[in-house]
Amino acid sequence: MDKVIIFDTTLRDGEQSSGAALNIDEKLEIARQLEKLKVDVIEAGFPVASPGDLEAVRRISQEVRGPTICALAHAQPEAVDDAWEAVKLARSPRIHVFLSSSEIHISHQLKKSRSQVLMLSRDMVARAKGYLEDVEFSPMDATRTDREFLYSIIEAVINAGATTVNIPDTVGYTIPREFCDLIDGIFKNVPNISKAVVSVHCHNDLGLAVANSLASLDHGVRQIECTVNGIGERAGNASLEEIVMALRTRSDLFDYTTGVDTTQINKTSRMVSDITGMYVQPNKAIVGRNAFRHESGIHQDGILKERTTYEIMDPRDVGRTDSVLTLGKLSGRAAFKDRLKELGYPLTDQELKRAFTAFKELADKKKVIKDRDLEALVAEELRTFSETYHLEQVQVSCGDHSVPTASVKLTGPDGKVIADAALGDGPVDAVYKAINRLVGVPNELIEFSVESVTEGIDAIGEVTIRIQSGEKIYTGRGASTDIMVASAKAYINALNRLLAAMERE
Ligand code: KIV
Ligand code: ZN
Repeated sequence: MDKVIIFDTTLRDGEQSSGAALNIDEKLEIARQLEKLKVDVIEAGFPVASPGDLEAVRRISQEVRGPTICALAHAQPEAVDDAWEAVKLARSPRIHVFLSSSEIHISHQLKKSRSQVLMLSRDMVARAKGYLEDVEFSPMDATRTDREFLYSIIEAVINAGATTVNIPDTVGYTIPREFCDLIDGIFKNVPNISKAVVSVHCHNDLGLAVANSLASLDHGVRQIECTVNGIGERAGNASLEEIVMALRTRSDLFDYTTGVDTTQINKTSRMVSDITGMYVQPNKAIVGRNAFRHESGIHQDGILKERTTYEIMDPRDVGRTDSVLTLGKLSGRAAFKDRLKELGYPLTDQELKRAFTAFKELADKKKVIKDRDLEALVAEELRTFSETYHLEQVQVSCGDHSVPTASVKLTGPDGKVIADAALGDGPVDAVYKAINRLVGVPNELIEFSVESVTEGIDAIGEVTIRIQSGEKIYTGRGASTDIMVASAKAYINALNRLLAAMERE
């Protein structure tokens, strides 16, 4: 069986999803989990874009030693130099250079001639090669590029030292038949193609990213670029979990393997969703809440008799367990720690201390604690680690005959406790206005949603919000058995991201 290289770009293309900007600690947390998932390559960021991104890639290079760590660079000397600066301490570093090659991009955006594009591509690959061995090149918008021109760029960059050539369907425009024909054309018409690994990078604008990626394998492609939960620019990228599980589940038809530890999929999906605030649709393949739920009587009957009647994958293979935590109010820290470890959360002593306090509070309010509750609780604790403002207390009074009023207590950046109160049109509005009086950063709330983590009246509620400040959108998430508290936490979380971005800029 041929190995397919899984190139994860959650931290680069995924982070380009509207509202999903991550800070350095969050990127590091996800990178560590991607290492456990055993992806082959982590594209950790675009260092020239901001000093914060450069630092994040540098830290990941130093601390995440399993996978190859890749930095993206557009075809400019300073971008390539910054990419090298960021990955040079990695155990296995890669630089990924890209430049648009389609006529639409060249004439309207780059305003360059084809020969300038070809020379720049070749020169920037050569510059990267001067630093390291592992260099990838992407002709951006390849699927709308003139074929002959595409072949000549690929030939030139391989001659300049590119070891991977990536074919991006940047705008998610192609369909499997056309894409495979393009890949065949590349293998047939680029004389030195055997010197490079051919990769694909498909966007999902027509919902075909996974289909296009998988179809290309039979035509010689050996690297697929993808993201956890399929997040990314616009409609996103090919979803990692769908690619990996399709290859595994239909191994009768696909003669390819990946090195991915599929039992880490569910946890990685949850973590990426929790940290980026990018909600996973309930019917999302593999990782959606409903992906293994059987509703109709006939289906339930079949499943009870023989699981494979309606299930093509075993949920345990993707790390989905739904055991009920038998720990209760009187359980000790050691048992709690063990259960978290089993779930894949080996917390530090400090994290454990806070998570345990939160667990005790939850056990007071909720009789049955499921793994999903525990995951929400740990995510909530992890969110609070790099906070500028921390929610200490929130109190709300509302009803159909009163003006909604909220009072809020926060710990500020200097460690001082500050408090204020406000009236609002509704309880959430009152809470947000009280917080605004304390934090004082103008923004607009553009999205608000609540989801219950499990069934039951005592379930944890998870609030996801988006706020806009200028052109930028920031996501926030908060979880609590009280949805007013969850709403306040979500708002503080979004504001902390906004403040961190302001500081970076
Ligand atoms: O979609 C795209 O073309 C990209 C490139 C930078 C590879 O993300
Ligand atoms: Zn992309």
